[in-house]
Amino acid sequence: MPTKSWLAPDAHAGSYALGMLGLEERKLLYQLACGWYSGAGAIVDLGTFCGASSCCLAAGLRDNPRAPGQRVHTYDCFIASEPYLVDFIRTQFGEPIELGQSFAAIFLRATAEFADYIQVHEGNLLEQSWQPKVPIEILFVDVAKTLALSGKVLTEFFSHLIPGKSIVIQQDFYHPTAFYLPVIMDFLRDHFTIIEPCRDWSVAFRLEKPISPETLRAASMYQFSFVRQQAALFRMMRRVGQPGREYLRISRCAAVGTYFGEHHFRSALAAATRRSRIQNDAVWSNGLAWCKDFNATRIRTRLYGNPSLMPLPGPLDRASLIISAMWDAVAAHLEQSTRGSRR
Ligand SMILES: C[S@@+](CC[C@H](N)C(=O)[O-])C[C@H]1O[C@@H](n2cnc3c(N)ncnc32)[C@H](O)[C@@H]1O
Repeated sequence: MPTKSWLAPDAHAGSYALGMLGLEERKLLYQLACGWYSGAGAIVDLGTFCGASSCCLAAGLRDNPRAPGQRVHTYDCFIASEPYLVDFIRTQFGEPIELGQSFAAIFLRATAEFADYIQVHEGNLLEQSWQPKVPIEILFVDVAKTLALSGKVLTEFFSHLIPGKSIVIQQDFYHPTAFYLPVIMDFLRDHFTIIEPCRDWSVAFRLEKPISPETLRAASMYQFSFVRQQAALFRMMRRVGQPGREYLRISRCAAVGTYFGEHHFRSALAAATRRSRIQNDAVWSNGLAWCKDFNATRIRTRLYGNPSLMPLPGPLDRASLIISAMWDAVAAHLEQSTRGSRR
């Protein structure tokens, strides 16, 4: 296995083009494309926005002598369909874009230096397929913002990964709204190992064993009960270790709030913050900032398209909520007394 060159003190990112990635994620992408990539399959960037992720991957390709002639397959609809995309373009690029307008011109300008290393697939990902049909060796996922998109990524792109070789980077892994990503990767735990548990918001996995189309279809349907999702999040917390474990506490709260509403979200979050051992951490602070605005209906709409499509929690789910709330309260109390007695 190649060394984790993105952890080296002198590791660089190949490109610092404006975008929504952290520095550690950029280093991860560049170093994977430059040092790990063998050319056995394609490199795919799902959700490039104005091109920051594509530039890091393309810079890695450029500097990788084992992959002549390869290009990064970049996917995006290039439509500023959400306020956070509009805000970013206005504030970072100084462009007067409106909701619903195209930012393709900004992408082309921002990626011009790497144009020879990038093949653009423009359009709604839900209506696209992996046309080259060749194996995929590096898959960067920054588009799985809804269950439908996540399902599409699983059935259309995961199905082309190479067992024993391919790397998947889930960029939204620690975003509270995307609590379904750790749940899905837990569901696929017999197939993937974690090669990098925490670079900013991202986690990198390697596919070890083939995944059957039925398993991918089951993962894409996301018919997991609340209890099952909570168990998956707990298992993933153990697997990723610190600080990812702390970030996933907030994801657990988001899952609670999505199924049971704002009141339960607030109680769960109060216990999670009392237990937290981290401070001055960008991902944690970002997660907490996002929590200020928590709105269960909005998340249900984002995930399911229509909030009424979310399966309602059953009696077992309700029982598990009560038990885990009690356990959280006891654990938070114990944590605080242990800290108090250490002082
Ligand atoms: C968080 S941004 C990606 C950030 C980017 N990776 C970077 O390096 O800055 C998510 C991107 O997903 C794209 N996206 C969202 N829904 C999509 C869809 N249905 N089809 C194609 N692209 C989509 C958005 O246009 C946006 O550019």
